[in-house]
Amino acid sequence: MTRLQLKQGPAATRVLGVGSYQPDRVVTNDDLSQLMDTNDQWIRDRVGIIERRFAEKDELLVDMAVTAGRNALADAGVDVSEVDTVIVPNCTMPAPIPNAAAQVADRIGIKAPGAFDLNAACAGFCYGLGVASDLIRSGSAGKVLVIGAEKLTDVVDPVDRANAIIFADGAGAAVVGPSDEPGIGPVAWGSAGDLVDTIYMRDHRYIYQEGQSVFRWATTQIAPIALRALELAGLEPSDVDVLIPHQANLRIVEAIAKRLRAKGAREDMVVADDIRYSGNTSSASIPMALDHMRKAGTVKSGDVVLMVGFGAGLSYAGQVVICP
Ligand code: UT7
Repeated sequence: MTRLQLKQGPAATRVLGVGSYQPDRVVTNDDLSQLMDTNDQWIRDRVGIIERRFAEKDELLVDMAVTAGRNALADAGVDVSEVDTVIVPNCTMPAPIPNAAAQVADRIGIKAPGAFDLNAACAGFCYGLGVASDLIRSGSAGKVLVIGAEKLTDVVDPVDRANAIIFADGAGAAVVGPSDEPGIGPVAWGSAGDLVDTIYMRDHRYIYQEGQSVFRWATTQIAPIALRALELAGLEPSDVDVLIPHQANLRIVEAIAKRLRAKGAREDMVVADDIRYSGNTSSASIPMALDHMRKAGTVKSGDVVLMVGFGAGLSYAGQVVICP
């Protein structure tokens, strides 16, 4: 009988480096209050955002992804010739084809890699990291560049005060490669397609969300996913040094942290609050927060980082990562 040959990769993977990019244009809450009925105090109190970045009209998702990807490669000290797979989690490309990944790879100088976009909305980066790690472990890929990138200002009604105050633009990336010691835990993922109507693109144009329904879901259903990711990695809540939930709303971030602390997470666990100066950048928010926190020194090499993403789909995913 004919028997197919299979490949076998290394047992473990890790994040080798991270990088991010944000557009130059800073938009304050006061700027937004010129356009719609909102105010700085309400946004700070209810969402936690102080300012965010908006891309210019001619600055595209692909442009932001290229810079974030280059920054992650430089941080990892990995040459473009070593990367054979590029994944770009996103949900805001202007059209379904072409995808972002192939052109991003080409502009970075990665020759003929496997390249695809992955849409799990705000959970996209954690989905992408899980896929990258397993591609390497199966022998299908050597080193993978995962870049969460979004231009949400293209799909948000600029005067819709439920969404325009939250969403922003940017990109965050990680280089994933083989490792002697496990540096990326198994992914805990899932979906709730029965709640699809709570966030969607209305008339294929602008994001609509039932803010309160999503808020309730996120504050009750996401901490258990984070706990499952810990269990899959064989860790306890008290092992977590840094918690990076998707930066959707600071009140959601704090609610997840509170639930984890009730299960034994430490009081001194560092909790990402990157949303304060970055807004909600969907699939970019987690890697961007990690990059900013490393640069600020709030996360150190070797720290146990628990990530969890959630959003439209509804989709969710989380895993433990050892900080590079
Ligand atoms: O990233 C993908 C996943 N998305 C999320 O996780 C988002 C989850 N949802 C949320 O973060 C929140 O629901 C929002 C930030 C979207 C909205 O906050 P909220 O606290 O749920 O506001 P609300 O819609 O319940 O409105 C509360 C009050 C209302 O006034 P009254 O009726 O109580 O007098 C609104 O009219 O706040 C008012 N309001 C605002 N006021 C100033 C709503 N939006 C604004 C605003 N500025 N932008």
